[in-house]
Amino acid sequence: MSSNKNKTVLVAGGAGYIGSHTTVELINAGYDVVIADNLSNADISAVKGVEQIVGRSVPFIQVDCCDIDALRREVFGKYSFASVIHFAAYKAVGESVSEPLKYFRNNLQSLLNVLTLMKEFDVPNIVFSSSATVYGQPEVLPATEATPRQRANSPYGLTKQMSEDIIQDTVAAVPFFKAIALRYFNPIGAHPSALIGELPKGVPANLVPFITQTAAGIRKELSIFGDDYGTPDGSCLRDYIDVVDLARAHVAAVGRMVENQSAERYEIFNIGIGRPVSVLELVKLFEEVNGVPVPHKIVARRPGDVEKIWAATDKANEVLGWHAERELGDTLRAAWAWEKHVRGL
Ligand code: WQD
Repeated sequence: MSSNKNKTVLVAGGAGYIGSHTTVELINAGYDVVIADNLSNADISAVKGVEQIVGRSVPFIQVDCCDIDALRREVFGKYSFASVIHFAAYKAVGESVSEPLKYFRNNLQSLLNVLTLMKEFDVPNIVFSSSATVYGQPEVLPATEATPRQRANSPYGLTKQMSEDIIQDTVAAVPFFKAIALRYFNPIGAHPSALIGELPKGVPANLVPFITQTAAGIRKELSIFGDDYGTPDGSCLRDYIDVVDLARAHVAAVGRMVENQSAERYEIFNIGIGRPVSVLELVKLFEEVNGVPVPHKIVARRPGDVEKIWAATDKANEVLGWHAERELGDTLRAAWAWEKHVRGL
């Protein structure tokens, strides 16, 4: 199958939460996208949602990135890519603690396969989904890209650190490779169309899906994990970034590499709004903008949580040319609109 080499992006994990939103923004920016996803933690309805938003069909290949032969045969052998965006990974922090080998095997093997095939098929650029979790609890805030990483406190976080290192060393060894690691802070929200969004399986581990499911009456009440932290209202501080803004950061990263603007062949950018928001503030804002109550109670701290983290976004703003644009209230409106869409409310 032929494709326009300079415009085609492989989105591995493109049926997932961030991958689906990124596919929409890539297509809006004029790229062609091929989605590869094994649907292990995603639903084909996300691809349909993407197609509805962009008004055209998007090539989708159901393949496991851990299966290098299938990935070679079905994906790299059939299309020519300008860049890969690698989202295909497990992401449940708690599960990674009880099943570390599952996380190391999947998250590292899929990356190794993608890098191997990029080399084999002369695909020069990769954007990698990294995470603010690589910083642990920084001593100085906001966290800049130069803030020292600390040993992650979950196998999930370790796979992000290891993947960054694997990419850095591979780029150093392969002269035509360029890579950008985006360290996401806390991605939340949904596409304003309410046609795609986050679809966690089972009981949500993350805050916003738990809020929206509680507002929808699926969960009785939200547990707020601790109000005795050394923060203004005692609850944890995070940097909540709208998923559409985050998606646009990937488009900027691809553009930077494709247009040969990278200052170094391996670059890292924090992607957040650069402002701390407490758990209690977020719940209150959600209730205000949506006019719906979120019953909640304070419970004990959750093991493994950092007290506070938010991003320095200067590098992303000035070097990548990306800015977060969406207001937090609009992000929480979109999260609620998506939940209502999913539940038929
Ligand atoms: C946010 C805040 C909780 C649920 C994790 C990963 C990170 C990234 C995103 C993923 C914290 C509090 C939560 C609840 C609560 N990875 N909370 N009640 O832990 O900052 O980041 O998810 O794909 O790498 O570490 O996000 O949404 O779980 O929690 O009070 O029911 O909300 O204590 O302060 P976190 P989160």
